[in-house]
Amino acid sequence: MARLVIVSNRVPAYGDRNQQSGGLAVALDEALKQETLWFGWSGQIAAETGRMPALTQRRAVTLATIDLGAEDYRRFYVGFANSSLWPLFHSRLGLMEYSREDYQGYRAVNRQFAAALSPLLRPDDIVWIHDYHLIPLARELRELGHANRLGFFLHIPFPPASVFDALPCARALICDLAACDLVGFQTEEDSDNFLSCAARLAGATLGAEGRFRLDEADSRSTAIPVGIDAGRFARQAERAANSENANRMRESLSGRRLIVGVDRLDYSKGLPNRFEAYSRLLEQYPEHRLKVSYLQVTPRSRRDVGEYQVLKRNLDRQAGKINGKFAEFDWVPLRYMTRGLPRATLAGFYRTASVGLVTPLRDGMNLVAKEYVAAQDPQDPGVLVLSRFAGAAAHMKEAIVVNPYDPDEVAEAINDALRMPGDERRARWQALYATVNRDSAAAWCRRFLEELSGNGPPLVKPAEAA
Ligand code: G6P
Repeated sequence: MARLVIVSNRVPAYGDRNQQSGGLAVALDEALKQETLWFGWSGQIAAETGRMPALTQRRAVTLATIDLGAEDYRRFYVGFANSSLWPLFHSRLGLMEYSREDYQGYRAVNRQFAAALSPLLRPDDIVWIHDYHLIPLARELRELGHANRLGFFLHIPFPPASVFDALPCARALICDLAACDLVGFQTEEDSDNFLSCAARLAGATLGAEGRFRLDEADSRSTAIPVGIDAGRFARQAERAANSENANRMRESLSGRRLIVGVDRLDYSKGLPNRFEAYSRLLEQYPEHRLKVSYLQVTPRSRRDVGEYQVLKRNLDRQAGKINGKFAEFDWVPLRYMTRGLPRATLAGFYRTASVGLVTPLRDGMNLVAKEYVAAQDPQDPGVLVLSRFAGAAAHMKEAIVVNPYDPDEVAEAINDALRMPGDERRARWQALYATVNRDSAAAWCRRFLEELSGNGPPLVKPAEAA
């Protein structure tokens, strides 16, 4: 069997007890049981970007990491990746900042990643590159002479051509992706957007089933939704529902119903809009006052990016206003925290919550939506309120699907969710659970690697992938 090489900006935090495994490590769980090399950033900032990767072994996985130099961190991570690409790909042109220096820094880091990875590669390795930080990496590896099978998966949305075109280096990034054998997206819409950009902005010729030809190279675009291990998460939630934290949570609710939201502190998540919707719920449906409690768990990320600092200040203010306006001496309507919680604790809270709020303005997939569904008690499930602009909405039609820009619509949806009879909740939940269970992490991983390896040797043994 060929060895799998994963490349991503963040690598799993094996060995660091304060860090939880990232979503990608959880999603790749099955594939990681065989020999794997995982290459990426150590998370450390040093004087200079590293040349020689530090190697650590964790079961079948060899982690190879390099530090980022302070200037590279600023230009590559804070600058181009998170101040240009992230807002652009989430269709937030007004927030996009662009500078040629940042773009050059981004390309330089990709070149250094390729140079550091290159000596570790074997000719028959299958290389799977992840996310928007590493778009030029495949081309850099090709230029170093690697003829391996190269796949790329974009975890965030791909915008329409009219939006993508605003990026001065749009064409170059399309050509970079064309150096891969397979380019994967979360939804058909993302894949279609990419193909139309490739044709309109870079002159690619499009063929059947996502095939495209650019600069005399053939490649293919595909849509495969990333997922979770629903059965395992359900078991975890069932156990967690009896844990000390879940008991403390229930005690603190004093019989009130829980509404839960869990999102990184990011403007793509639509948190100000969601807070406004909750405020309108309490205003327009006063019967819920004193009867519900909304917990918003919002771990901070990308603190060096200015826009995230602005968002933090605004959310703090908005949360204070809501509680100031509606709280009673024995009731806090909104519990807002900017720290993360372990996945197991969240699993118990999801199961306890009558409503799960997942209302991003734009999101690649959103695994919280899937985890919320998987965590429910089948006899008495809660209701998912889901943004139509999350990739998850493409398949999870039985949620209450909302336009997150309309706070009145979201307030109505929360009211409907709180009032929904048991039969309807169970029927919706069964359909949602079947979808989440079908579009699993293992299925995502297996399908991508099968499509990437073409007729080559299987990467995941069928028994492992089942
Ligand atoms: C999103 C991206 C990931 C990224 C994660 C956390 O899910 O798709 O690539 O790792 O956010 O963001 P951070 O900037 O902390 O890595």
